[in-house]
Amino acid sequence: MSLGQSKPKACVIGYPVRHSRSPLIHGYWLNRLGIAGTYERAEIAPAEFSRFIDNFARQGFTGGNVTLPHKQAAFERCAWTTAAAACLKAVNTLWIEAGVLHGENTDAAGFLAALDEDAPGWDGGQGRALIIGAGGAARAVAYALKLRGIGEILLVNRTKARADAVAADIGPPVESREICDVPRLLAGAALVVNTTSLGMAGQPPLDVDLAPLPLEATVSDIVYVPLETGLIKAARARGLRAVSGIGMLLHQAVPGFERWFGVRPAVTAELRQLIEADILAAL
Ligand code: ATR
Repeated sequence: MSLGQSKPKACVIGYPVRHSRSPLIHGYWLNRLGIAGTYERAEIAPAEFSRFIDNFARQGFTGGNVTLPHKQAAFERCAWTTAAAACLKAVNTLWIEAGVLHGENTDAAGFLAALDEDAPGWDGGQGRALIIGAGGAARAVAYALKLRGIGEILLVNRTKARADAVAADIGPPVESREICDVPRLLAGAALVVNTTSLGMAGQPPLDVDLAPLPLEATVSDIVYVPLETGLIKAARARGLRAVSGIGMLLHQAVPGFERWFGVRPAVTAELRQLIEADILAAL
């Protein structure tokens, strides 16, 4: 951490950024840990991104988070990235070290930490993982499951070519399948993950019948607005273990805070309640 003389200052860079819950998460930790740092929103249009990054350290930033639509552009501006970021070609966490921009992608680790917390032992059984979707979030989830050693990771997507591209980029054991095969694929699945925007407030629901899933299976949805999507409700109604997107949101924030402010923060029940209340209030 390079603090200079002043107190550490971080931000979330996005466009738009007003809906980001990162200031609430990091503000909670700063307050609880008694750290004299700041965390602010930086609404930066795509055309302004390069200039903002060029001036990042000069503006006094220690680091920051990156959200839509800048994750790929941020990756390209980093002088050094972690292996996860290099594989995903996207970063969500930046920091300045020795005057140079460094980048990390904490989505994969955040996804695994959330599953470990909310469905302990989810990776202990037999069966494939089925990922629905093929955007940036699907890439992070596929990378995470490969990292964890899951032996069969299948992707389906409305646009098959995008699923093919993710499988090719992440490599074996990630493979793509036709979306019409979902009922058959569910029959042998230990984990199903929705990485699409379907089920999000204002979006159509994800239309998947969970009936073929074995009862030991875990269902995960990266959507956290609403707190419980139709998919999560259907999983719980069948008695399956269900992991909503809020845990990934909270856990992906941990490494950045530690880098900028020097203390590894905890994802507490109190923090979770705070963010859940904020989401409920906004609906
Ligand atoms: P992100 O990077 O946040 O994951 P993205 O790249 O826009 O977002 O990807 C969104 C995912 O949701 C994609 O898999 C998309 O499917 P396509 O690749 O076919 O576009 C999926 N998605 C969004 N709306 C959808 C819809 N109405 N039906 C099916 N899939 C949808």
